[in-house]
Amino acid sequence: MLAIMSAMSEEINDLVSELTNKKTVTFGMRDYHTGKLWGSEVVLVFSRWGKVAAAVTTTHLISHFKATEIIFTGVAGGVSPEMNIGDIVVGTGFYQHDMDARPIFKRHEIPLIGLTAFSSDGNVRDRLHEASKDFLDNEFKNVISESHRDEFSLSSPKSLLGEIASGDQFFASSEKLQDLRERLPKVLCVEMEGAAVAQVCHEYQVPFAVVRTISDSANEHASINYQKFLSKVASQYSKGILSEFLSRKT
Ligand code: ADE
Repeated sequence: MLAIMSAMSEEINDLVSELTNKKTVTFGMRDYHTGKLWGSEVVLVFSRWGKVAAAVTTTHLISHFKATEIIFTGVAGGVSPEMNIGDIVVGTGFYQHDMDARPIFKRHEIPLIGLTAFSSDGNVRDRLHEASKDFLDNEFKNVISESHRDEFSLSSPKSLLGEIASGDQFFASSEKLQDLRERLPKVLCVEMEGAAVAQVCHEYQVPFAVVRTISDSANEHASINYQKFLSKVASQYSKGILSEFLSRKT
């Protein structure tokens, strides 16, 4: 069964309202909703925030719900200067930017696994990237109003494949952002869960992919932008991308 998780309750609630044959069960302070989403059997869950919350939720999806494919959707702060608010990133590699077990392991290396970055599943991520591009080309203008497009300067958003950094920090400082860029120069965006989902999926050998919409620029304006983007735009992106993804899934 496909599992869809997000660290935004608004996104999950929006998807839950589209479920048919809905059943909700609660474990470990999380509501897991099963049913059919636009014809596909899914389990939907709000992971809550941060690496531990995401890891716990992912483990439960795999061991209890027997998830065979996991998709994480949500927002992220732009790190690379080429990322604008409203762009989409589909993750290829995932770093835990706050992992630092020096001097025993080198910075960012996950102890005892021998990796500094986990990779998403090539097939799932390519389908998600195609779905993201189709959403931007077709549905985007229908579901994001002109006033919201103006408000967030969403003139011609793009979808990119690239690396994501995750950690238990909300980035809202140019100085911290610059430090992250120097440590992990190829990273496109920063969030708080993707690399934790990636580690669990690596350990259990379950295919996964992550799609993130840029809600802010991870600088001093980040928290204001993040909240506005979340309440006005983010759910429309996730819903649009996922409906494209599921319509091409067989
Ligand atoms: N998710 C969205 N924006 C973020 C930021 N600036 N830092 C960490 N996670 C985020």
